[in-house]
Amino acid sequence: MTNPAMIAFHESDPGEIAKIEGKLALLLAADGSMDTLARKVNTLTKGALKRLAASKVFEKLKPGQGHVLSFPNGLQAEAVQVVKLARRPDQASARKAGAVMAVFQGGDPLTVLAGTNSRAADISFGLALRGYNFTAHKTGETTEPGAVRFMVANASEVAATAKPMAAVAEGVFFTRDLVNEPSNILTTEDFAARLAAMQELGLEVTILEEDELEKLGMGALLGVGLGSETPTKVVVMEWNGGGDEAPFALVGKGVVFDTGGISIKPAGGMEDMTMDMGGAGVVSGVMRSLALRRAKANVVGVVGLVENMPDGRAQRPGDVVTSMKGDTIEVINTDAEGRLVLADILWYTQQKFAPVGMVNLATLTGAMVIALGHENAGAFSNDDKICTAFLKAAKAEGEGAWRLPMGEAYDKLIKSRIADMKNVGGRPAGAVTAAQFLRRFVKDDVPWIHLDIAGVALLKTDSDLAPKGATGWGVMALDRLIRDTCEH
Ligand code: BES
Ligand code: MN
Ligand code: ZN
Repeated sequence: MTNPAMIAFHESDPGEIAKIEGKLALLLAADGSMDTLARKVNTLTKGALKRLAASKVFEKLKPGQGHVLSFPNGLQAEAVQVVKLARRPDQASARKAGAVMAVFQGGDPLTVLAGTNSRAADISFGLALRGYNFTAHKTGETTEPGAVRFMVANASEVAATAKPMAAVAEGVFFTRDLVNEPSNILTTEDFAARLAAMQELGLEVTILEEDELEKLGMGALLGVGLGSETPTKVVVMEWNGGGDEAPFALVGKGVVFDTGGISIKPAGGMEDMTMDMGGAGVVSGVMRSLALRRAKANVVGVVGLVENMPDGRAQRPGDVVTSMKGDTIEVINTDAEGRLVLADILWYTQQKFAPVGMVNLATLTGAMVIALGHENAGAFSNDDKICTAFLKAAKAEGEGAWRLPMGEAYDKLIKSRIADMKNVGGRPAGAVTAAQFLRRFVKDDVPWIHLDIAGVALLKTDSDLAPKGATGWGVMALDRLIRDTCEH
């Protein structure tokens, strides 16, 4: 598994700067004012920083952007990146500055002269997140990133602030690794084994196999996996850090591959459906973060692991399945499988744990991508309070989310002629009818949010805090939501 860069914090020592090898990064405020460390670099380079600070190049930099000086006279370092950042920056600029340093670092050893900047820990967090690199299947490439050293005033205080952030970064990395992993490797069995391994961190992990799922009556979930050789599993992860309070629940769609089943998808782009376990990936990453930072909360994570394949045994369009709740579903389109998976695990989670709140995540609909693109996930909820709290947490973490409407009027679109409901509602409001379907499996008194992450789980281009590929969207926001609403 990929680990966040090893970042160590040391007390500032200007006397050491001239001899530092590898790469150096430092901070310069927009007004050009320098702290002790920058001043030392300026002296050693005979005024290079002062000239840069007065230049057009520097003026044009946005907060968190940098300019690189190569092979500077007076220093051992091969390159110095000067990043424009206020002495007391906001969290987002500080993370961005760290991310810019990660790109500059490119895996080489790096020393960051952060000095007295009030957000040194946030800089290190941004650096870790953007430094992620999925090299598992690149022969000859090492997974070990170069060491990062921070020079800061009050190293022990900064290290203490950075510690829970490193736990979150590791959760994000866990999610990204799962989402980036191809489906011949991340089978349902491999996925479950990776989750079982988290028992080492103090999580209680239970794996429900097909026979138990059958006994529980999960006909909707089991129908999806009928065409696959990899067995359907439900994995339950429990973190008990909050005494005897009822838990908060996270529920995730873990379709390890989605061909569409008998309603088969077109070939173009089908390879992207290796990420169709993104919801389960986020749930798993949050659980890992909570365990690593010993969160004072009770949280249960439930993921439905299944593969949607066409086969002689696969379910057919027109089949009727019975959910654990007892409601029957006419499967009009076997490609609308995520909601069938979620229907049963949402119900199971409520029956088993009576959670105080419940968030489910899923790469659920292409319609979501059409509606909001890759900038925002869609949020659907039956409760204004929990939804507002989540949107606030997402905003604070820089993870885009936008609430969409629900309402009984949409229900007529999923009426079935022969069963209690059908699993698709046609093209209009495709993301909303999917949410409306899920809502039938949520009890009215359980505050619930459905997050459709189809557009944000995996990106084709680099973003501020992640290289192209899996983003881990949602881990930070949910970790913060739990911190804000469950921990005290
Ligand atoms: N996993 C897909 C949704 C998806 C699409 C995720 C694009 C990420 C990117 C889901 O299982 C699916 O196939 N949904 C269908 C539903 C339709 C048949 C009602 C879709 O959106 O096309
Ligand atoms: Mn599908
Ligand atoms: Zn799917």
